[in-house]
Amino acid sequence: MARFSNGPDHVRRRGLAVSLLESVGELRDEAFERTQGIVAALGDFDVMAEVARPVPVGVLASALGLPDVSADVALVAAAYHPHVTPDAAAEAALGRLVAECGGADERAAARIGVLVQACDATAGLIGNEVSAWLTGKPAGQPVLSTRRRIDGTDVSVSLAGTPFGAGPRACPGSRQATELATGVLQALQGFRLTETKTEWVSSPNLRMPARLWVTRG
Ligand code: HEM
Repeated sequence: MARFSNGPDHVRRRGLAVSLLESVGELRDEAFERTQGIVAALGDFDVMAEVARPVPVGVLASALGLPDVSADVALVAAAYHPHVTPDAAAEAALGRLVAECGGADERAAARIGVLVQACDATAGLIGNEVSAWLTGKPAGQPVLSTRRRIDGTDVSVSLAGTPFGAGPRACPGSRQATELATGVLQALQGFRLTETKTEWVSSPNLRMPARLWVTRG
C-alpha cells in the first residue's frame, strides 16, 4: 500500500487510493443515520467501542461497495505497521479482507489501505472531539507522529501542528474523515459523560480516549 512505499511505487499506489476516495460521495448523512441506529438501542455506552471505531470504517466500506468489514479492518489496523509482527488473528482478518476486496493485487491493497488508514485516525478524531465538547477542554490532534520506511529503516516523523500531514504524503481522506466525524457528532447531541476522568490510549503516536462512557441527558 501507498503508506509504506517510496518513489514511483508510492506515486502509483497513492493514485489508486486517491481515485477510490474521489469516487466516494458525501458521507455525513450515512454516518449520522448509522450512529443514531446504534445508540437508539443503548443506555450507557462506550462511544469508542460502539461508534467511533466501527461507524467510520463501516460507512466507508459501504461507499466502496463492500460489506461491513470494520471488525477485520480494526484487527489489521492494530498490526500493519512495519515494526509490529502480526498475530494469527490479524493474518486471518487480512486474508478475509483480501478475498472481499477481489484478490491479492494493488487495487485490493488500495481498498484495504484506505480502510485501515481511516480506522484509528478517524476514531481518534471523533473521540477527541466528543471528549472536548463534553468536558469543555480543547481537542488535541489524534495522530502525533507517523512512521515511514526509508531504505529499509523505520523512521518516525512528527506531525505537530499538521493534523492531516502535508506534502506528497498528506492525508487524501481529510474530506471523508471530516464528514464522518461531523455526522457522528451530530448524532451524539444530547449525551453526557458518565466518568469524570478520561482514560487515554497508551501509544506514542496516537492521542485519543481508550474509552468514553456516555449516557443520555
Ligand atoms: C476517512 C478517513 C481517512 C482515510 C480514508 C485516510 C486515508 C489515508 C491514506 C490512504 C493515507 C496514505 C497517503 C500516502 O501514502 O500518500 C493517509 C495518510 C495520512 N493520514 Fe489519513 N485517512 C483518514 C483519516 C485521517 C484522520 C482522521 C487523520 C488525522 C486527523 C489522518 C491523518 C493522516 C496523516 C497525518 C497521514 C500522513 C502519514 C504520513 O505522512 O506518513 N487521516 N491517510
